[in-house]
Amino acid sequence: MAAKRIRHHVNPLALQYLDFDPAPLPDLSSASVVEVELGCAEGDFLFDRVRDTSGDVLIVGLEIRRKLVDRINEKAARMGLAHRLVAVFANLNVHIPEIFPPASVDRFFFNFPDPWFKNSQKKRRVVSRQVVEELIKALKPGGQILFQSDVFDIALDAMYSFEAFGCPPLVNESGEWSFIRHNPFGTMSRRERHVTEDGTRVWRILYSLPS
Ligand SMILES: C[S@@+](CC[C@H](N)C(=O)[O-])C[C@H]1O[C@@H](n2cnc3c(N)ncnc32)[C@H](O)[C@@H]1O
Repeated sequence: MAAKRIRHHVNPLALQYLDFDPAPLPDLSSASVVEVELGCAEGDFLFDRVRDTSGDVLIVGLEIRRKLVDRINEKAARMGLAHRLVAVFANLNVHIPEIFPPASVDRFFFNFPDPWFKNSQKKRRVVSRQVVEELIKALKPGGQILFQSDVFDIALDAMYSFEAFGCPPLVNESGEWSFIRHNPFGTMSRRERHVTEDGTRVWRILYSLPS
């Protein structure tokens, strides 16, 4: 059977991606730690994160390409990991408050979000003021956000949104307006592995919500 074609990019502002209900998550309060990758693509990071963490940790991936979500969930079921790993078909620009109750998430990962770096496409950038406010509401006290990109302008734009719109303010773990050199969590996404092998510089920012 021919493999189904999966689009490389979709426009998150297209009507079909703004107006749908994401599938509900399992009860997050039953996991002691909840981690979320925003834009998980094929889910490599999610499976590696399950391998790299132990105990009662739930790893969630949000992804706007539905076929990838189905494949990830099928693979997790085949591997007997469905209780630890779940992918959700959702638009992170729209659905975060619907999916995550207040103070329910320990860690958000923004691993190499799509590079909408032309000025005319700025409105498509994933880290808007609204997204920052919604992530802060969803984080537990002491929760963290790791953002990483190999595109400097994207990382700088994200840093601006996080530092300017955090309310309560997020704490930049390297000091205001600063990047961290290394990924403190060890687990690499597919894109991170690729650019690291190339020797491309990765721009990383780590924030925490005061306890
Ligand atoms: C460049 S890929 C990075 C994938 C992975 N995080 C990595 O580092 O290898 C970005 C992913 O985010 C997804 N994405 C883009 N905009 C999104 C949105 N608004 N909501 C959910 N997922 C989105 C894309 O479909 C794509 O799979």
